[in-house]
Amino acid sequence: MKKLIALLLAAMMVLSLAACGSKTESTGNTESTSAEASEPAEAATPAESTESTPAAEPEAAKLTTVTEGKLTVATSPDFAPYEFYAVEDGTPRLAGFDVALAGYIADYLGLELEMVPIDFDGVLMELQTRNVDLGMAGLSPDPKREGIMDFSDIYYQGGQSFVTVKGNEDKFTTLEQTNDPAYQIGAQTGSIQVDLAQTNSPDAEIIQLAKVTDIIAELLAGKLDGAYIETAVAESYAVNYPELAIVLDVPYDVSGSAVGVIKGNAELLAAVNEAIAAAIADGSMDNFVAEANELASGEIIEGLLN
Ligand code: ARG
Repeated sequence: MKKLIALLLAAMMVLSLAACGSKTESTGNTESTSAEASEPAEAATPAESTESTPAAEPEAAKLTTVTEGKLTVATSPDFAPYEFYAVEDGTPRLAGFDVALAGYIADYLGLELEMVPIDFDGVLMELQTRNVDLGMAGLSPDPKREGIMDFSDIYYQGGQSFVTVKGNEDKFTTLEQTNDPAYQIGAQTGSIQVDLAQTNSPDAEIIQLAKVTDIIAELLAGKLDGAYIETAVAESYAVNYPELAIVLDVPYDVSGSAVGVIKGNAELLAAVNEAIAAAIADGSMDNFVAEANELASGEIIEGLLN
């Protein structure tokens, strides 16, 4: 049955490619497609990526961006392994899988990448004020943000956690226990973690800080009792700061990260989605995540923690 579906899919792709070919160009696609079509099951994904690559060129030609020829991307590098400063030979360099994906998207669209590092609430503001084309900052596609940006497809699945320090694990064995007026609980300004804090710990004092790295520093200094942090980020900082304790999974119904796209640029949104699909299909996305995790476990900038 699986095989039959794969064959059907493959046949459909040959047909749609043939249709494409007759409209515009007649590339050598038929040859490579039929080779892939004869392969079982997995054929569908790689065939798609070979189909989308040549389509990128005409797409790029009609893209409008904030600065012509450039893809301007705001990011908030306090968020390993998504984006952070890796220190190599004493020099900080912007790194992380969002940064790598931004490079991939820019290449795919034939645009020069310009990254704009800024605090997270600044990323939202830059998009809203139309200063940047994209925001790539582990952005949750929160419906409340739909008035100020469009969202791409999801490119990474992550979760939410409640974090404290070693020794305090016993105080937080349920989310209800975080809801105590005695507690000071951190969340990043402008983030959905503020909503999570208000939902789950409404009686606690919720402290909003501009940088996740500040939240981690305050946790380690004992100034915060706990904090709401993206799970992958908490896990990443816990490698360098083993005093952190990730104690609870926090339910949140808008799962995953999307690219924030300047509102109303439908061509750019479609092109970004195409690039994301290609990065997932050709294995690049998995590599970006693996590389970022590796890099984030090494020396990352400490300055942000001061
Ligand atoms: N996913 C959360 C949100 O969209 C937090 C993102 C924070 N990103 C960052 N780079 N600090 O609100």
